[in-house]
Amino acid sequence: MAVVGAAELAEAAGIAEAALTLDAGEAAALVGRLSRPPSGRRWTALAVPGGVVMASMSGKDPGVGHIDLLAVRPEARGEGRGRALVRAAEEWLRAEGARQARFAGNPPCYAWPGIDVRYTAAACLAESLGYERYHVAWNMTADLGVDLSVEDDLARLERAGVSVRSAGPASPGTPAGGDRERVAAFVGEHWNERWAWEALNATGLHYAERDGRVLGFAAWGARPSWFGPMGTAPDARGLGLGRVLLRRCLAEQRAAGQAEAQIGWVGPLRFYSRAVGARAERVFWLYRRDLA
Ligand SMILES: CC(C)(COP(=O)(O)OP(=O)(O)OC[C@H]1O[C@@H](n2cnc3c(N)ncnc32)[C@H](O)[C@@H]1OP(=O)(O)O)[C@@H](O)C(=O)NCCC(=O)NCCS
Repeated sequence: MAVVGAAELAEAAGIAEAALTLDAGEAAALVGRLSRPPSGRRWTALAVPGGVVMASMSGKDPGVGHIDLLAVRPEARGEGRGRALVRAAEEWLRAEGARQARFAGNPPCYAWPGIDVRYTAAACLAESLGYERYHVAWNMTADLGVDLSVEDDLARLERAGVSVRSAGPASPGTPAGGDRERVAAFVGEHWNERWAWEALNATGLHYAERDGRVLGFAAWGARPSWFGPMGTAPDARGLGLGRVLLRRCLAEQRAAGQAEAQIGWVGPLRFYSRAVGARAERVFWLYRRDLA
């Protein structure tokens, strides 16, 4: 089992592209994202010829480790690589102090909430290794061919003294632009540091403000190509900000070439269903196993 260094990550991305058929378009970006997590996160990538696994320690619970990504090239399957990769990831996690391993997203930097049920071989692998299915999570899908216009809402909000803006772009490796930091601070204050990291690292970040005070935000692309997170401050709810911010993000995702958007790891079914006609679609099983 070899530890994957920076130079070999491109090969790992190639394996992920070949294996992750439900995510092929963004598989390389997922390897990239997982290899640039929040500072302080302990993580590794381990490989055998034709297979790779990425694992990380939870920043929230020091006894929990995550298997973030597992991929074996189609032509190399059925020969024990998947099993060996998971065992090697567990060994690494145990050495880092984990008492439990999970196939579950490690927020804020994750590829999936758990194992997509359609990656059935992976679910079978987890179960054959003694993992317990302990939770279900899902995404919603928004078709981006629908009407995403917000002009009337913007005019109404303007009359109420609320303006809606796009934050400056994130610049990886450099301090983020001014309004992005201000919005991320708002997110950290009202929700948590994990969402704040996502706001800072999102491809697109929109926010509403009144009298210089941020009232709500919506982001996409922190998890490559997915929408989220979003939130409106409790005292600004009911103004219709969420709907406008969501639509502005989705319109930007459409402009970036996406035909549909995944609303990741939801969340309020009714809000997304009513605001943009989104439907529940991808389902993920979360698995865990105590490490002896
Ligand atoms: C899941 C995956 C990594 C398995 O890799 P692999 O090298 O074929 O796995 P192994 O040869 O070590 O098989 C070990 C176990 O996996 C399960 N498994 C493997 N192929 C399977 C298949 N076609 N159907 C059902 N279970 C399968 C079985 O439980 C098997 O052990 P068993 O037959 O003794 O029960 C591989 O199928 C893959 O890359 N799939 C796509 C990517 C993916 O799903 N990643 C996980 C995303 S969270």
